[in-house]
Amino acid sequence: MLRNGERVLIREVGPADRPLLREGFAKLSDQSRFFRFLAPHRKLSEAELDRFCKENTDEHFAIGALSTGVEADMPIATARFVRVTEGAEEAEIALTIIDSHQRLGLGSLLMRTLAEVAVSRGITAFTALLHHDNEGMQGLLKRFGGQRVSEGLEAEWILPLPLPEKNKKTRSRPACDILIPPPPKPGL
Ligand SMILES: CC(C)(COP(=O)(O)OP(=O)(O)OC[C@H]1O[C@@H](n2cnc3c(N)ncnc32)[C@H](O)[C@@H]1OP(=O)(O)O)[C@@H](O)C(=O)NCCC(=O)NCCS
Repeated sequence: MLRNGERVLIREVGPADRPLLREGFAKLSDQSRFFRFLAPHRKLSEAELDRFCKENTDEHFAIGALSTGVEADMPIATARFVRVTEGAEEAEIALTIIDSHQRLGLGSLLMRTLAEVAVSRGITAFTALLHHDNEGMQGLLKRFGGQRVSEGLEAEWILPLPLPEKNKKTRSRPACDILIPPPPKPGL
C-alpha cells in the first residue's frame, strides 16, 4: 500500500513487458526523463526496450510496479541493477517512478526489494551516477546510508548493502504484493 492508500504489485520485468514500459515512459515528465538518462530523452528506442525487458539474470535484474487499483493494471515504476562488470560485487542501479506516484514511498519499497535480490546474488554495494540537481534520488540514497563519492555535475554515489533494517513498527505487515523468486541454487 502506498502512502495515498493505492495498492501496488511489484514483480520482475520480462520480455512481455515492452508495452508496459512504453506506457510508463509516456507518463514521465521531461525532468524525470532527464534525471534518469542524464540527457533529454523523448522516446525509448527498440534497442533500449530490448535491454530493459530482457530476461533477468544475476548480472542484470529488473523489477516493476503496477498500480492494481484501476481497471487495467497501470505501470508506475521500474528499478534495475546491472553489475558494473561480469561477476563484480558492485552493481549500478536506476529507479524510475512516474511523476504522479513520486514521494509516496514507492522508491524506498523498490530499493529495498532490489537490494534483497542483489544481496542474495552476492552484490555488496549499489552505485549510481546522479545529476547534481537530482534531490529526489540523493534524498532516497541518503535515507539508506548512501554517500556521494565524486564531485561534479554528474557525481557517483555508493550505497553499501545490505540496507539498514526497517524500524520494528513498519516491519510486521507487508507493504505490497511482491513476486520475486529466490535465487537459483548453485549447480542447477
Ligand atoms: C528519485 C525517485 C526514484 C524517488 O522515488 P520516490 O518514490 O519519490 O521516493 P520515496 O517516496 O520513497 O522517498 C523516499 C525519501 O527520499 C527523499 N526524497 C524523495 N523525493 C524527494 C524530492 N523530490 N526532494 C527531496 N527529497 C526527496 C525523501 O527523504 C523521501 O522521504 P520522505 O518522503 O519521507 O521525506 C523518483 O523521484 C524518480 O523516479 N525520479 C525520476 C527519475 C530519477 O531521478 N531516477 C534516479 C536516477 S537513477
